[in-house]
Amino acid sequence: MLKAICSKKDLSSDRYYALVSDIIDSSALDRLKDITHHISTTRFQHCLNVSYYTYLICKKLRLDARAAARAGLLHDLFYYDRKKYNKSKRSALSQFHARSSCR
Ligand SMILES: [Fe+2]
Repeated sequence: MLKAICSKKDLSSDRYYALVSDIIDSSALDRLKDITHHISTTRFQHCLNVSYYTYLICKKLRLDARAAARAGLLHDLFYYDRKKYNKSKRSALSQFHARSSCR
């Protein structure tokens, strides 16, 4: 079952899924299921939460919900341990992530 945190809805049978299934089912996103993010979740679950709730908000506001859902899934698509790289201010990866997150 595919669920966003605090939601009881099975997203795999929702219209949302039809808009993002190619990304969710990709091996690139599958790799995020093994990476811890924000202490108590996986990076995959975090991206799913961001994607789904952004989708709902954009749908309500009549904005491009498809683009928002897809962007949410991809917004933290990286495989290194950010905490490890943040310890070194000289780390190119850390600086890259910080810059890309702030834009
Ligand atoms: Fe994020």
